[in-house]
Amino acid sequence: MEKKYDFGLVGLGVMGRNFILNVGDNGFSAFGNDLDIDKVNALIEEGGDTEKINASTDAKVFVSALSSPRKIMLLVPAGKVVDRVIESLLPLLDADDIIIDGGNSFFTDTDRREAYLAEKGIHFFGAGVSGGAKGARLGPSIMPGGNREAYQHVKPIFEAVSAKYKGEPCVAYLGPKSAGNYVKMVHNGIEYGLMQLTSELYDLLKKGGNFNNDELHQTYAEWNEGRLQSFLVEITSEILEQDDDLGEGRLVDKILDKAKQKGTGKWTSQNAMDLGIPVPSIDIAVSMREISALKEERIQADRLYERPQVAKMDKEQLKDLAEKALYFSFIVTYGQGLHQLADASKEYGYELDIAEIAKIWRAGCIIRAGLLADITEAFKAQPDLPNLLLSPTFVTKVQAAVDAARELVAYAAKNGIPVPGLSNSLTYFDAYTSARLPLNMIQAQRDYFGSHTYERIDREGVFHTDWEE
Ligand code: 6PG
Repeated sequence: MEKKYDFGLVGLGVMGRNFILNVGDNGFSAFGNDLDIDKVNALIEEGGDTEKINASTDAKVFVSALSSPRKIMLLVPAGKVVDRVIESLLPLLDADDIIIDGGNSFFTDTDRREAYLAEKGIHFFGAGVSGGAKGARLGPSIMPGGNREAYQHVKPIFEAVSAKYKGEPCVAYLGPKSAGNYVKMVHNGIEYGLMQLTSELYDLLKKGGNFNNDELHQTYAEWNEGRLQSFLVEITSEILEQDDDLGEGRLVDKILDKAKQKGTGKWTSQNAMDLGIPVPSIDIAVSMREISALKEERIQADRLYERPQVAKMDKEQLKDLAEKALYFSFIVTYGQGLHQLADASKEYGYELDIAEIAKIWRAGCIIRAGLLADITEAFKAQPDLPNLLLSPTFVTKVQAAVDAARELVAYAAKNGIPVPGLSNSLTYFDAYTSARLPLNMIQAQRDYFGSHTYERIDREGVFHTDWEE
């Protein structure tokens, strides 16, 4: 009998090639498919043993090489390409075969594809894969959503290839339909927030404390040994150490300050708005990438306005405040993203288990951090916790760190250093923890000019006042 392979993968770019080699390393045989013959050949060569890893440019050869039910993962660019690949595979598939989209697809696209393929008896999964090229090769965090029963066929492979946190796989069935893509989208929103925060603190240390690149490298490396331990803090420290191959000094200083984006952070913000869930630490991270893109205008504006002379701070004091402020704002950012997930779960019927999500983010993904172990415990203890800020264990941690954030936001404002991620996190915190906000005034204004009515604090009902009488 002809050899049948356990797993199929379409799209042999860096991510696809690395993922399929990872499958091969973990005891499964896998077959790849790509229109580009060079990519096919490169994989066959790197795979070594064609009994374990094989590939073809021909979709028919590819599909017929897979064991039933076929498990086919797509690692192709999100958007129309996914639909094209699905259409090309469809005539070759049998009922109960499984297609897994491993890209950053927009969640409503996943819902549409899932419904379309379900009619044809094919199971469709949206599975977020995080960890970049290295993660795909050595163990990513995987966030699959789709049909629960069909997931049983994929589970052993995903559990084997995923990252492990103290032996536990960083993958779990998350929920029906687009649950996996949705969770990955919010993962990326949090990723944007944390990246913005780490870059702001780098700027503050530099401008406020005259930290040079070596000291900055040291500081982030030290932080990575403590409660801020995380992939993003770790790579920040490594980036600061990297020499420039093309000139003098460190590479980071030569990189143009315009940040690009592919859209997942923006989608998180947009959808949070649709849900009515505030995620300002994520919103501002998206806005900052947009502001960064306006380089020419920024240069022009920089010439038009005076900026205060920065009053230097004591290095050790600044470092201590910065550590606390970063810890505080990381918690707030995770909290906002998880709040959004809890609400989306109700709205879209995902039935998400937030503790399980925090658990599979502990290793492999871009937002992996020591903090996620505490977050997992907080949601295990209170699965319906609406917001991390309401968790008793976090109250103590946040209380001890928030004053540092206040001090740094005030210092930054006074000295003209932009820290929008930090200040948005703080403002969100102050608003969320205020029993009374001045929004009574907004209600009065709405009623004044538009008879929009208001409620009262002292009696039931809906009221309108003729304010101009
Ligand atoms: C991951 C990342 C990844 C994302 C990049 C780029 O989890 O591995 O989130 O999926 O595509 O980080 O995103 P931007 O181009 O939008 O910054």
